Amino acid sequence: MGHVVLKNLRKSYGQNEVIRGIDLEVQDGEFLVFVGPSGCGKSTTLRMIAGLEEISSGDLTIDGVQVTHTHPADRGVAMVFQSYALYPHMTVEENMGFSLKMSGIKERDRQLQVRQAAEVLRIDQMLKKYPKELSGGERQRVAIGRAIVRKPKVFLFDEPLSNLDAALRVNMRIELSRLHKELGTTMIYVTHDQVEAMTMGDRIAVFNNGNIEQLGSPLSLYEQPCNQFVASFLGSPRINLIEQPDFNLASESLKAWWNLYSANFSTKPHCIGFRPEHIDIVEAAQGLPATVVLAEHLGDASIYHCQVDGLTNLINVKMNSDQKFNSHDSIGLFFKKNHILGFDSKSHRVN
Ligand SMILES: Nc1ncnc2c1ncn2[C@@H]1O[C@H](COP(=O)(O)OP(=O)(O)OP(=O)(O)O)[C@@H](O)[C@H]1O
Ligand SMILES: [Mg+2]
Repeated sequence: MGHVVLKNLRKSYGQNEVIRGIDLEVQDGEFLVFVGPSGCGKSTTLRMIAGLEEISSGDLTIDGVQVTHTHPADRGVAMVFQSYALYPHMTVEENMGFSLKMSGIKERDRQLQVRQAAEVLRIDQMLKKYPKELSGGERQRVAIGRAIVRKPKVFLFDEPLSNLDAALRVNMRIELSRLHKELGTTMIYVTHDQVEAMTMGDRIAVFNNGNIEQLGSPLSLYEQPCNQFVASFLGSPRINLIEQPDFNLASESLKAWWNLYSANFSTKPHCIGFRPEHIDIVEAAQGLPATVVLAEHLGDASIYHCQVDGLTNLINVKMNSDQKFNSHDSIGLFFKKNHILGFDSKSHRVN
């Protein structure tokens, strides 16, 4: 079991309120991802759940039991950090068994539990090694192993993979998803990585300034963000946001474009959003005229940063690489209408 409920959770440091009344229910066995800009309160929220940070006000329950002020060791949670924080003078086995030893579990039982966890993590061949003899990825597995042996109801991960190189991250991402399936334990996972957020989570909570802006499945957030903040935060390159042009100054083509696309909404939008993969490059005469300012060919895809007369921001387009365009090319932009998003002047999404 691992059903976590946060009710109006708040945290202040002196006069500075950094968590501003979070309500959140994490289902038993769920993989929930926290994302948001730096300083928005992801780690603080996680640390309050872990008991490493005092809760200023509000309630925290785990499986229906009030644990708001319970000692960290008695909450049934285990946290894994970005820095592995292994004890350098202990072997892998000793590192993993340390918390069991502290809780007075006998050596034979300890060994058994450590071996079981090591098998799950595929580090059973490394139990006699010291941390300095391990790669970054192996060390992170030991850190996760140390959490597993405690058989927590809830795992808390604070950017556990961000110290690893790109290839290893992909491996560990897949391993962690497998681990979650195998253990079926509730996991709350903080990341800055778009792919991790989109692929690992059953749901994502997008944080902003000490609040949760939106909570939902990765695809629902991507396709139906509640506001501009969420729309901009998920997706790389970022969504293109095009504000209503000044009709005294804008080109005829831009005015015509705005009139055509803004007519899709029952409430008049202040701003229209298109994700880079929902725009195609066509002949100049067949789309909104633009010039390629920068072309980035990534191998499997190309990203084009395009200047449209009358718009301050460049329009980013992401296309597969069958057809290549270069800087200075005059092109047309074709926007796929069924993916259009509109936002009002308060940046809320409109239909
Ligand atoms: N011990 C502390 N004393 C005072 N302020 C703190 C303390 N810890 C965190 N804060 C403040 O609380 C806010 C939230 O910090 P937190 O570490 O939760 O952000 P975060 O979302 O995890 O950011 P990042 O993505 O950079 O890790 C920040 O403004 C930070 O400066
Ligand atoms: Mg953090």
